[in-house]
Amino acid sequence: MAVLRSVLAIAAVLASGVWCMTPHAYSFDDHESTTTWHLMNISSGDITKVPFGDDISEVVWVGETDTSILYTSTKSPVSSGISLWTADLADPKVKGTRVANLPAPYSGLKAVRTSEGDINFLLNCLAYENGTAYNEDLAEVSYTTGRLYDSNYVRHWDTYLTQQRYAVFSGTLTGSGSSYDLDGEMNNLLKGIEAPVTRPECPVQPFGGSGDYDLSPDGSTVVFLTKAPELPKANYTASYLYLVPHDGSSVAEQLNGPGTKAPANAKGASGAPVFSLDSKSIAYYQQDGVSYESDRSKMYVADVASGKISPVAENWDASAAVIKWSNNCNDLYVTSDYLASTRLFIIPADAGANFKPTNMTDITSVSDYYILPGGNALVTANAVWSSFNVYIASPNGEASYLHQANEEDPELEGLGPDDVDFIWYEGTLGDQQQAIVVYPTDFDPSQVYDFIFYVHGGPQGYTGNVWSSRWNLKTWADQGYVLVGPNPTGSTSYGQSLTDRIRGKWGSWPYEDLLKAYNHACNNLPYINCSNAVAAGASYGGYMMNWIQGHPLGRNFKALVSHDGVTTTFSDYGTEELWFIQHDFNGTIWDNRETYRLWDPLRFAKNFATPQFVVHNDLDYRLPVGEGIAMFNALQELGVPSRFLNFPDEGHWVLNQENSLFWHQEIYNWINYWTGKIGSLDDNAITQ
Ligand SMILES: *[C@@H]1O[C@H](CO)[C@@H](O)[C@H](O)[C@H]1NC(C)=O
Ligand SMILES: *[C@@H]1O[C@H](CO)[C@@H](O)[C@H](O)[C@H]1NC(C)=O
Ligand SMILES: *[C@@H]1O[C@H](CO)[C@@H](O)[C@H](O)[C@H]1NC(C)=O
Ligand SMILES: *[C@@H]1O[C@H](CO)[C@@H](O)[C@H](O)[C@H]1NC(C)=O
Ligand SMILES: *[C@@H]1O[C@H](CO)[C@@H](O)[C@H](O)[C@H]1NC(C)=O
Ligand SMILES: *[C@@H]1O[C@H](CO)[C@@H](O)[C@H](O)[C@H]1NC(C)=O
Repeated sequence: MAVLRSVLAIAAVLASGVWCMTPHAYSFDDHESTTTWHLMNISSGDITKVPFGDDISEVVWVGETDTSILYTSTKSPVSSGISLWTADLADPKVKGTRVANLPAPYSGLKAVRTSEGDINFLLNCLAYENGTAYNEDLAEVSYTTGRLYDSNYVRHWDTYLTQQRYAVFSGTLTGSGSSYDLDGEMNNLLKGIEAPVTRPECPVQPFGGSGDYDLSPDGSTVVFLTKAPELPKANYTASYLYLVPHDGSSVAEQLNGPGTKAPANAKGASGAPVFSLDSKSIAYYQQDGVSYESDRSKMYVADVASGKISPVAENWDASAAVIKWSNNCNDLYVTSDYLASTRLFIIPADAGANFKPTNMTDITSVSDYYILPGGNALVTANAVWSSFNVYIASPNGEASYLHQANEEDPELEGLGPDDVDFIWYEGTLGDQQQAIVVYPTDFDPSQVYDFIFYVHGGPQGYTGNVWSSRWNLKTWADQGYVLVGPNPTGSTSYGQSLTDRIRGKWGSWPYEDLLKAYNHACNNLPYINCSNAVAAGASYGGYMMNWIQGHPLGRNFKALVSHDGVTTTFSDYGTEELWFIQHDFNGTIWDNRETYRLWDPLRFAKNFATPQFVVHNDLDYRLPVGEGIAMFNALQELGVPSRFLNFPDEGHWVLNQENSLFWHQEIYNWINYWTGKIGSLDDNAITQ
């Protein structure tokens, strides 16, 4: 593997039939990433390179002509600052003009051209408590590294809380053609919000981005998301939307949540706010539960002038993710996870409670999309067999492909839809459950293959038809296995009741469902050898490996692999996401001790016997590293063959490409050794 390519998202909005994307390629020979910008002609599918340097971070289509763009560059007179540039893509040299220098690392560019010809834009950046954008390189350095806290949630995901918070900033460029000037200062639009408990922050960390805010197409108004100011962050997931004039001339006002015109049931996490093209309405989603991150995300439309809020297709048993308006403002296009992949749906904005949309896209997973004039959607998608597909989807379900990485990229040659199947079987409660099956290259169903049993994380998640550089299911299968990834109790994309059933049941129903999936696969798939099988999983899947290790199913595997999983439920109080464990274990560790005790894998340590590879990373604050070390200690003390892999610079996910390669190589070395494909383990382990 010389080059690892991943294309994350559509990078810029469409204009006059051309459109931009950014493939990031990593070379394991040069140990370097490169970013190259391309234009795709969406009539012909032709791709050409844009003569941009490596310094261009984000591009939006905005300006006087259809081919005008505004972009951000890391070129700056100030260390870690950025600059804003205008250019025209009709110019073959794309000679940009610098229009502003911003002395902090802003990102998340959104912009519109107003009727006066100005460009109103938004960016986000960490900010000091006084509202000024924060640039670490220019900040005063303290002589102590001590950090002192009076309330919990001191760290989250991979970062300790500091005094700075992310904020949305607005600015206006006045001028025309290529000559624009920043008019006045950047405005911090979060300033002045009353926050009795939790200070405002947008994008919401750690996963929020420019999808947490939107600028009205007329340039006048901004909507943004922030966590509930009256609730503590460790206990609650609730977040609300706020409206503010783009010029920051008045303090932002709350649009939904308590004390607004939103329905009384809507109290939880909000997301995906987006203005209609006439700037009159905002579509968004909100969950009901104030402390349950996996509750159903229901759609709403808010009338900007009156603040009136109406539910959309209220009884649809699915969660909205990304929402966009049709150009005529009548319909909403929404992505939602359905049967183990992210699909696109179309729903009238005034749809009644019982409206049931059907998926307009296939079994690949939608990464991003844009609505074309006429109502088709330009979609980017991925699948187990392809990192990046581009196609035009019509509301009647037709798809016209422009690009499929597996057919164009020599590194993915030979991959295709035949690499994957889906199977259904009966779960513990008599319901039908689904698993994905991934085949190795040149799979021949008359042959027999070793077996990988893969359990997903969450537990509110699914193993689906997605491309990943973290768990790339196809490279697992390509070691010479058939991989089966079941979606047991707790899984999403099959309706809310399967997801919600996990509460208080971590070790029971999902385990029994997995046993059913295992038996179904062993009894019905003649091409797998269940006598030569391994099991693997991360996060909740890692917990399940640790649980299986102490239970009878564990004895059916030659080896186990657990990545950043729970070893003892009582140490879950070392996480900052108390809302999560207090939901899933139905109470605190003192009020509902029995549930924590029941599903604690370490309680069954005396049964541990199957060779296990344990991965746990230092920056995993969600599930601290002591969990992996405790598991490894138990295995070693019991004399069970085991290896421990740690990355000091990775969190819950291994993201660095070289680390990902090492992770895959060492795990494959482990499973291939225990299934007898290689005669000895490598000698890469650090000795005593
Ligand atoms: C895009 O492709 C179409 C069809 O081949 C062609 O007619 C058109 O000129 C191309 N557009 C641009 C901007 O190159
Ligand atoms: C905000 O605080 C920072 C850090 O103390 C300081 O550098 C900056 O000048 C302050 N901004 C204003 C507007 O007072
Ligand atoms: C956090 O939630 C727990 C469990 O619901 C509760 O006992 C505790 O009082 C809550 N703390 C705050 C500050 O709301
Ligand atoms: C909708 O999803 C089903 C189930 O995966 C699939 O069979 C069907 O082809 C999809 N519809 C479209 C229009 O792709
Ligand atoms: C959660 O706990 C409450 C009592 O605190 C109980 O009534 C409820 O049945 C429990 N739910 C589950 C799913 O265990
Ligand atoms: C299945 O695996 C077992 C255990 O490794 C092995 O003895 C047997 O030969 C395998 N069966 C086939 C058909 O490969």
